[in-house]
Amino acid sequence: MTLLKTALTAQLNIEVPLICGAMYPCTNPELVAAVSAAGGIGVVQPLSMIYVYGHDLREGLRLIRRIADKPIGMNVLIERSSARYLERMRQYVDIAVEEGVRFFVTSLGNPRWVVDRVAPEGGIVYHDVTERKWAEKGLAGGVHGLIAVNDRAGGHAGPYSAERLFEQLQGLGVPVVCAGGIGNADDFVRALRIGYAGAQLGTRFIATDECGAHPDYKQAIVAATEDDIVLTERVTGVPLAVIRTPYVERIGTKAGPVARWLLRGRKTKHWMRMFYALRSAWQLKRASLAGGAREPTSKDYWQAGKSVEGIDKIEPAGAIVRRFAAAASPGGAFDLP
Ligand SMILES: Cc1cc2nc3c(=O)[nH]c(=O)nc-3n(C[C@H](O)[C@H](O)[C@H](O)COP(=O)(O)O)c2cc1C
Repeated sequence: MTLLKTALTAQLNIEVPLICGAMYPCTNPELVAAVSAAGGIGVVQPLSMIYVYGHDLREGLRLIRRIADKPIGMNVLIERSSARYLERMRQYVDIAVEEGVRFFVTSLGNPRWVVDRVAPEGGIVYHDVTERKWAEKGLAGGVHGLIAVNDRAGGHAGPYSAERLFEQLQGLGVPVVCAGGIGNADDFVRALRIGYAGAQLGTRFIATDECGAHPDYKQAIVAATEDDIVLTERVTGVPLAVIRTPYVERIGTKAGPVARWLLRGRKTKHWMRMFYALRSAWQLKRASLAGGAREPTSKDYWQAGKSVEGIDKIEPAGAIVRRFAAAASPGGAFDLP
């Protein structure tokens, strides 16, 4: 029995229910193209494309299409605290639609305006959620599917395990994709067997030939075990999964007292969140491109999830997609009658 044909593959017209999730600052056009070329789907992170890799968005999307003329997605982070940022996101969505992108992954906030903009063009919108409450809000905004971010995910992890979150999200009438903790083909097949319509991976795709991150960062992912992943509040103000480095050991994982106080204040919290967003964008970009976060003097952070446990080499992104697909195919390593 194949596990590869799911509601996700049917909606997106792809062969393998495997998404390379958006990653600021790790998603570069070559990585997106490699995953889509192999039959999965890569998701563009517009800020990473523009501010980390220096591409104009439209040119970057065209570069991807020259490498692989296959479906791709784009991430839309809906952060309402800045009108200017929101306006820019609207422009990015317009450009993406014009360039043929038909899959959008929204995070935070109300996805309604994205659905209204892209659905008439045949666009499909999936919303990142960590619990049922956010799923219901996303569905009220008209989304077509959910990405269930669990407690093992890279980036901003959720509070629940993949199994519990799947149960929580039952009965909502849309496909649910598993995000978090998938490092090898075994993990992928397990997620499909739970009943997920697909999987979104981040960390696994950093340790690839195509990802533009520094070789030290990729090597640190290969070397790490799940116990090396900690959640820190010190980068973005909310728990972010990072590799434990000498700096993390030294400085701890809790936000400082002043930041905590500012984050609590009704007026100051927006200001503090903006400060975190700008500072973390700069910090994470430098860390991903420069390497060296393991040096005792470094103050850099490397983001990664507990899926590091199953990652044992740096390899081409397409080889990962093909190995995972083979494992979930009839006669594959995990095929059951
Ligand atoms: C370095 C890194 C950066 C990420 N940046 C984003 C982002 O910009 N937007 C987003 O929606 N998710 C982001 N994520 C989450 C991923 O898209 C994906 O859901 C997650 O990595 C899945 O967990 P895994 O790393 O265990 O595979 C990021 C994850 C990582 C590891």
